[in-house]
Amino acid sequence: MKPLKISSTASAPCKVILFGEHFVVYGKPAILAAIDKRIHVNVSIRNDTKFVINNKDIHDEISISNIIESNYKHDKLSYPIFLTAYNTLRGFDSRVGLDIKIDSQVPFGSGLGTSAAVSAALIASISNLFGSFNKHQIFLQTLEAEKLIHATPSGADPAITVTGGVIMFRKTKEPDMLIMPLEYNDLRLIIIYSGENRITGDIVNNVKRIREDNPKLFEMFANKNEEITLDAVQALRNKDYNSLGSLMLRNHELLKSLGVSTRRLDEIVEKAMQNGALGAKMTGAGGGGSVIAIAEDENRLLNTFQEYYAFIANIDKDGVRVE
Ligand code: PMV
Repeated sequence: MKPLKISSTASAPCKVILFGEHFVVYGKPAILAAIDKRIHVNVSIRNDTKFVINNKDIHDEISISNIIESNYKHDKLSYPIFLTAYNTLRGFDSRVGLDIKIDSQVPFGSGLGTSAAVSAALIASISNLFGSFNKHQIFLQTLEAEKLIHATPSGADPAITVTGGVIMFRKTKEPDMLIMPLEYNDLRLIIIYSGENRITGDIVNNVKRIREDNPKLFEMFANKNEEITLDAVQALRNKDYNSLGSLMLRNHELLKSLGVSTRRLDEIVEKAMQNGALGAKMTGAGGGGSVIAIAEDENRLLNTFQEYYAFIANIDKDGVRVE
């Protein structure tokens, strides 16, 4: 198929997991929120058959024939991006070369869902070259892209970056995931990036081992987490931010017991609570990444964390979109 445009831009929001990370991989519900920090991806057609990424974090290129011939797999950051571009173009029966520009409003590796947002924005921008924009299709393709990064993604990150808003997510039998939009009223979050980077797949594998070694204990944690998550749905609906805050703290304690928090994340949570937060917890895989908090006096918290990359996030309502 011939592209209808020579250039296209799409963007997708970053996200936080409000409740239920890790346990969501094993079929428990999680609550996720899309935040008003986006990743923009621009693609423009080249007059050769190369993919070229040129942005401040990644510079790399590959010819499409190399992807086809070499059973292409390497450990560079660009690998899932190139392969996802290739797979998306294949869906349109096209083999054009692309310049790919990626622009992120948050640091990569900060635990804010940058990888799923890059994939969703990339898939949407390429699809838009052919006049197509189908959120369900973008979700399924983003899920495939996430599998290139770690083997057993729950699908929660692809779901939230595509739909936007706040959702309850439950992994049922693929591809029929449960994605339920939730009321979020005037919810705002303070996000504090610890500066510690980690690889989601490694932490997910550690948790898998813990589950295999202590199935009963894991089951107990998972059930507690489910209870917390379901109570949080009610608290969100009722704008009961005091309860929501306590539930966040309980969720953090569980993740700490699971061994996925770090000393720095615990310190940030503690400091947030000492400075007026109603609740705080690590978010995402752990081992680093970010802490989220809710507070009445958000500026007081921001001032507390001046030495960190910290910001106030509103909820993004759009999800992935063409610009
Ligand atoms: O690394 P993040 O922030 O995208 O979070 C991963 C969330 C996990 O529940 C640990 C894994 C998953 O696939 O849901």
